[in-house]
Amino acid sequence: MRDVAVIGVGMTKFGELWDQSFRHLIAEAGSKAILDAGIEGKDIDAMYVGSMSSGRFVGQEHVGALVADASGFSHTNIPATRVEGACASGGIAVRQGYFSVASGINDVVVVGGIEKMNDVSGAAATETLATAADQEWEAFFGATFPSIYAMMATRHMHEYGTTKKQLAQVAVKNHANGAKNPNAQFRREIPLEAVMNATMVAYPLGLLDCSPVSDGAASIILCAADKAKQYSDNIIQIIGSGQASDTLSLHGRDDICTMQSTVHASQMAYKQAQLTPKDIHVAEVHDCFTIAEIVAVEDLGFVKKGEGGKAIENKITTLDGEIPVNTSGGLKAKGHPVGATGVAQIVEIVEQLRGKADKRQVQDARIGLAHNIGGSGATCTTHILEAK
Ligand code: COA
Repeated sequence: MRDVAVIGVGMTKFGELWDQSFRHLIAEAGSKAILDAGIEGKDIDAMYVGSMSSGRFVGQEHVGALVADASGFSHTNIPATRVEGACASGGIAVRQGYFSVASGINDVVVVGGIEKMNDVSGAAATETLATAADQEWEAFFGATFPSIYAMMATRHMHEYGTTKKQLAQVAVKNHANGAKNPNAQFRREIPLEAVMNATMVAYPLGLLDCSPVSDGAASIILCAADKAKQYSDNIIQIIGSGQASDTLSLHGRDDICTMQSTVHASQMAYKQAQLTPKDIHVAEVHDCFTIAEIVAVEDLGFVKKGEGGKAIENKITTLDGEIPVNTSGGLKAKGHPVGATGVAQIVEIVEQLRGKADKRQVQDARIGLAHNIGGSGATCTTHILEAK
């Protein structure tokens, strides 16, 4: 396997983007990444695109071909492949792009992620998202993702004494980070009381414990590391890539406070990188709901199982904490256009490792981790990147 570098990143603003179409969003993110890499279209050998449910959200399937066409690649005839793994579609697309370069098949690959979720009603968006849950055992009985994650939260509260206030502190932190991110959907800080008193969605998760329904796209350019120097002196390398699965529905798990997919995907990535959780300087984790960040920091090994609530309370995961988590604002404040999320997480980590994260910059960050979940944890990808 060859070493693989990220030589370009780009993303659109995330939000309710009524004035932009699906094809314009992905073309914008891709063009920004190409410009950032300093390459030309003819240098690109292949394309991978993560999208969860473009068919239901905008009525468009055959997304690989659409994105290649919209980005001006139909005349270079490069292979364009759409990848689906619910909210982990983007992370899996990154991993497929990584493999294609690492294997020696391709030298330069563009990886995109996109979702445009606001063209349908909120109810239709919720129903579409719930197609990533188990239809027969969860969705049929009315379970949607807020209620599924609420069950994890109440169990975590029961087992470990995690409080609603600790959940709310995750949202406060991520909105504070999002306020510093020009691409975030919500660029406003929120007080703790607002989260605690927000309209209840599924106890204990209120409206401000949830990530929003979002439109947006993100893109990265991967290149064989030995060729990357011709484009950039500031090389960010992918040094670990992991992917793992867990049961599709919660009831199949021994412990609903642990996502075995995260445990296994992160161990795979740590092993390849020859690192431990203590070596990570900055992390983007999948906080689709506040409880998800608490479970993730435990399953990734940043703190012991059950101590995720205390970690946020003791400010371990804030911008100036021991291990800053979700400096971009996370899914909570940056937004969560589901297929784009896993790619946008890499964009943030690359900006951090380049020292270009502006007001969100983590001092001396050289090693970063991106953690992307599909559904309630049935799929997970973890990537570790290092500034060389
Ligand atoms: N965080 C912060 N603010 C939010 C928000 C969120 N998640 N969702 C909506 N808002 C804001 C809106 O901007 C709007 O503000 P305004 O009145 O100032 O314009 C207000 O709250 C009401 O928005 P609305 O669109 O009517 O909210 P809604 O009730 O239709 O949707 C949720 C709120 C929480 C139900 C919706 O965001 C949701 O379903 N989130 C979860 C998405 C999900 O499951 N993703 C997959 C995870 S696995």
